[in-house]
Amino acid sequence: MTVRINPSILSADFVNLQREVERLETADLVHVDVMDNHFVPNLTFGPRMVERLQAVSPVPLDVHLMISDADRWAPGYAELGAFSVTFHAEAATDVRATARALRERGARAGLAVKPGTPIEPYLELVPEFDQFLVMTVEPGFGGQSFMPETMPKLRALREAVRRHGGDVWLQVDGGISVDTIGVAAEAGADTFVAGSSVFGADSVERAIEELRAAARA
Ligand code: DX5
Ligand code: ZN
Repeated sequence: MTVRINPSILSADFVNLQREVERLETADLVHVDVMDNHFVPNLTFGPRMVERLQAVSPVPLDVHLMISDADRWAPGYAELGAFSVTFHAEAATDVRATARALRERGARAGLAVKPGTPIEPYLELVPEFDQFLVMTVEPGFGGQSFMPETMPKLRALREAVRRHGGDVWLQVDGGISVDTIGVAAEAGADTFVAGSSVFGADSVERAIEELRAAARA
């Protein structure tokens, strides 16, 4: 079974981001949370920071846009070379067109949904995307508790991916630790974002390894 561990630098030391990112050699991708203080009540960074992080990261970047007007801003992140760009369904007007714009610019296209957003309207769009992100906390902050009630959405997505075929990754983000990762894996997730459980550990490398093992258990 495929397991990808994407540490989220939201929990890293922001004045030492280069050093923090360089510690993530054993990760699959580095998860970068872009927030605009509008779609979510928190503010992080924009394209310039993503571009610089990309230049120093040992693994590709997985950009998670928590910003309004995603149709307008998401393609720019693909243009600067992000490996994957995930935008929120709640923040986009034309989800399909934005996915196509991302793919045309060479990025994997991802669609995210908040805990309260149903996934059913998007299941038929599986072929338009390379990954889906089921938020397992309300987006905006690290360190919150995993919401198991979001798991039926993963099951529905897993079934839709099976039906449509294709290499579509299913991601969870929020409250992922060795205690919760197994639940998400069992429900169908294969890509796991973890912020506080990685950066809060004494050894980042060991934390990543333990998460991998717990997902497979
Ligand atoms: C939250 C972000 C997450 C965050 C997860 O809105 O999208 O990526 O960093 O943090 P933890 O793993 O601490 O819940
Ligand atoms: Zn995120």
